[in-house]
Amino acid sequence: MSVSIPTVREVLVYRSAEALAEGAASLLLDALNVHVVPPRFAIALSGGDTPKAIYHTMAKRQEASALFNEKVELFFSDERAVPPDHDQSNYGVARKYLLGPLSIRPEIVHRIQGEATDPAAEAARYEREIRGVVKAAANGIPCFDLVMLGMGEDGHTASLFPDSYHSVPAADLVVAPFVTAAGSYRISFNLSLINASRQVLFLVAGAKKAHMLKKVLCGEANAYIPPAAKVKAERTVWLLDAEAASQLDRRIVSVKEVS
Ligand code: 6PG
Repeated sequence: MSVSIPTVREVLVYRSAEALAEGAASLLLDALNVHVVPPRFAIALSGGDTPKAIYHTMAKRQEASALFNEKVELFFSDERAVPPDHDQSNYGVARKYLLGPLSIRPEIVHRIQGEATDPAAEAARYEREIRGVVKAAANGIPCFDLVMLGMGEDGHTASLFPDSYHSVPAADLVVAPFVTAAGSYRISFNLSLINASRQVLFLVAGAKKAHMLKKVLCGEANAYIPPAAKVKAERTVWLLDAEAASQLDRRIVSVKEVS
């Protein structure tokens, strides 16, 4: 009989996107400070624009370089179908704003090969790479210590989009859905892998996300449940700025205002 681990959700609201970046960097570095190796701390970085501010903030923290190099195995929760030097590459953004400035050792960085000509084969390869590095829990699924995620206005997360995440095999840990909105394939952690992690940090900023965030966090009876609302890790922490949190009904969702 499998024992279900209770899932915890926290919602933290920061006064600005800059304060959110500082808070996210502190949460991540605090977790690394208390982590005892081995095993190394397995992190998956998210894509899009929001992480840039967190990377920039982390790159200014003196202790970050040693913490990453001594304690971390670094992965990516998704990647676009582009080469690493493309400005749309999630790895390329991390390399520019985090890996380079912190002199992160290449051997601890596990990038998805977005340039792969066969996305499904690359998804399978990346799953094998994850299994070779990240220790599996009793359920046989590699257990990440921390998965960073963003959320799109349509409720997508990683590269799990409303119109295509149903089409991927639920048992596959890494998938290669065709993303209509992008007009291309992407490679992404599947919900099975995300929800097996110890902690997810959702980073959501800006007024454009407020309407969807209300749906995801407050729920609506009989409404469509977007992929972001299906994320339930052991601990799921939503880090929001005030604009993104502006439509949340505080009677339904408990929120901690971070000063
Ligand atoms: C990607 C991301 C995606 C992103 C959201 C939010 O590769 O695009 O993984 O899920 O996190 O679209 O993106 P922004 O941070 O740019 O709003």
